[in-house]
Amino acid sequence: MKRLTIKRIAINTGGGDAPGLNAVIRAVVVSAVNRGWECYGIRDGYNGLLEPKKYPEGGLIPLPKSKVRGITHLGGTILGTTNKGNPLQWPMKGKDGKPHETDRTDELLKAFKKNKIDALVAVGGDGSLGIANVLAQKGLRVVGVPKTIDNDLDKTVITFGFDTAVSFATTCIDRLHTTAESHQRVMVVEVMGRYAGWIALESGVSSTADVILIPEIPYDIHKIAEKIEDRDKSGAKFSIVVVAEGAKPKGGSFSVVSKEIGRAEKLGGAGERVAKEIHEVTGKETRCVVLGHLLRGGTPTTFDRLISLRFGAAAVRALAEGQNGIMVALDPPTVRYVPLADATHRMKTVPLDCDIILTARDLGVSFGD
Ligand code: F6P
Repeated sequence: MKRLTIKRIAINTGGGDAPGLNAVIRAVVVSAVNRGWECYGIRDGYNGLLEPKKYPEGGLIPLPKSKVRGITHLGGTILGTTNKGNPLQWPMKGKDGKPHETDRTDELLKAFKKNKIDALVAVGGDGSLGIANVLAQKGLRVVGVPKTIDNDLDKTVITFGFDTAVSFATTCIDRLHTTAESHQRVMVVEVMGRYAGWIALESGVSSTADVILIPEIPYDIHKIAEKIEDRDKSGAKFSIVVVAEGAKPKGGSFSVVSKEIGRAEKLGGAGERVAKEIHEVTGKETRCVVLGHLLRGGTPTTFDRLISLRFGAAAVRALAEGQNGIMVALDPPTVRYVPLADATHRMKTVPLDCDIILTARDLGVSFGD
């Protein structure tokens, strides 16, 4: 491995925010400064380098230790982040006045050089780490840190942000049991997770939901109705149904609310759709609660803080060892390095024979199949 003398590194946070980002930032800054390196933060993903004029205080901000003091427990990211503005598909206005996707990675590489950045710690999900992989292949020294509440990144047992999201979702679903029972209703709870069902599965099982609908198992509304009616007959006149935003009926499609150029399609409405169909088929009163961005906020759990600090420190150690084009990953009990290309190759969805699915079925949970 070619050891490059590192004097200055940058860190950026991309994609949806997640509890733990600031813990990663602090671990990277303190580890780097303790090695005598300078550390800079890029604002809002890569925007701070691609659109510097939009930042009066500068798109690339110095990160001394003082800047990261006391942020480990704070949700969000002090650098800002973005879910749009992918340098590989930057929406630029064409001659026809319409936005066209433009590749601005070469311009980005020049900006790194101009600012004398020797290496980048890219903190993000599949989208951001996919961009980081392209930059690594084009010659930038890059180490990735796996972030997303969805836990859908491959090659790591878990991403930071996920534990906090599942813990909060479980608390919310717990609260719904009493109101559902009091009104003999079916309470439907929609949770985030994009095209993977991890949040719905783990929060649903933990909060003893009766039905859990995930993208990996397209549902049959009549099977859901059967489960609800069986509960009614057994005397439990209420049910809790947890729906992943990417859940879809057999032969049906995702519930999409919008699709903008340069952005992933925005999912939404799956919970309301299921609540309406349950009412139509069973006649029972239903209500739907969408947890949405509540799952992205809040202070990270102890687990997420610790894994974030471990990931951040490991990313700097990897750079110091001369690593490049890798992502730090949790492979219990240790943190390993995996090639970025492997980590961003496919989405980690819920295996249908995984232990949590088997446990749920043993406990009588219906997946609508
Ligand atoms: O990827 C994290 C995530 O929270 C997804 O679960 C969700 O579908 C998406 O981001 C929402 O994106 P935005 O914050 O742009 O609405």
